[in-house]
Amino acid sequence: NTDVRESMYLVSEFAQKYFHDTLLNSEEGKAIGLSYFKERGFTNETIKKFGLGYSPEIWDAFSKEALGKGYKLEFLESTGLTINKERLIDRFRGRVMFPIHSMSGRVLGFGGRILGNDKKAAKYLNSPESDIYHKSKVLYGIFMAKQAIAKQNNCYLVEGYTDVIQFNQSGIENVVASSGTALTPDQIRLINRLTKNITVLFDGDAAGLRASIRGIDLILEEGMNVKVCTFPDGEDPDSFAKKNSYEALLQYLETNAKDFIQFKASLLMDESKNDPVKKADLIRDMVTSISKIKDRIQREIYIQETSRIMDISEQVLLNTLAQLVQKDI
Ligand code: CTP
Ligand code: MN
Ligand code: MN
Ligand code: MN
Ligand code: MN
Repeated sequence: NTDVRESMYLVSEFAQKYFHDTLLNSEEGKAIGLSYFKERGFTNETIKKFGLGYSPEIWDAFSKEALGKGYKLEFLESTGLTINKERLIDRFRGRVMFPIHSMSGRVLGFGGRILGNDKKAAKYLNSPESDIYHKSKVLYGIFMAKQAIAKQNNCYLVEGYTDVIQFNQSGIENVVASSGTALTPDQIRLINRLTKNITVLFDGDAAGLRASIRGIDLILEEGMNVKVCTFPDGEDPDSFAKKNSYEALLQYLETNAKDFIQFKASLLMDESKNDPVKKADLIRDMVTSISKIKDRIQREIYIQETSRIMDISEQVLLNTLAQLVQKDI
């Protein structure tokens, strides 16, 4: 229902302004939230651009303020901003806040990060699914990035909120985050409206690697082009961008972005290059990815590349491909 959704958008927009104002103007916000962002290297300009905020460490500060301004409890609850049990409790307390915007710039929900690295609490708390927030259909940063994505004709896809923000601060604006969820076809289609080209930049750890591998086939299935650039172990785009100049960052991305065949081949080099069984599995896996590509000429080119890199005849690859494509029909 449109009226209900409009009310939810309005209360989310109010929350964004409240958290942002609290960050910039309250004593607690400045002392805790703002200094946290400063430590991460975010400038005031960046904080404003992304509408970052702070939720005070008080049970119901936000809920009271919103109710006092006439926002209805119904919509505070349905957006997940207020939890109504024995009493009203703010979902987000004592966290730095990352508003999540739609493609057209409306506030849909929030990610809230604990300060510091307390291993007991979940690092990020997110808005629940609601009539306006569908996690699987949203990309963090898309509103801020859309013009740059179209202009550069490429989209960098990262995992996290801070990866998007740090890249922006470094001067690279065509970047969005899947926000830690497994990439979905709906998310890829959002990018497809702006460009056919995605460069996946997931974290330099086992989880990031696995997510990159899964993402490849999904992107190819949407008829888009995919490259992958990995980061050194333990680094993510945020930490890497923070350590390097804009020039060094661009240089790294350009030198290390691999097409999906090169990327998959490099995985084997890391493991056991001389294990025939593993090598065969990898080749089958490459051909499976190739079978997702709709363009026949592109398929042919990737078959040639696989043949060259993996030192196997094109004919056997084409036979395997034919079987896979047959199954699809
Ligand atoms: N994430 C989440 N809930 C968690 C952990 C992660 O929703 N408990 C999502 C967040 O969107 C986060 C992304 O997954 O940005 C990537 O996770 P991770 O790499 O662990 O976090 P970073 O973004 O690197 O966060 P930070 O640099 O602040 O530690
Ligand atoms: Mn809906
Ligand atoms: Mn990670
Ligand atoms: Mn990370
Ligand atoms: Mn990080």
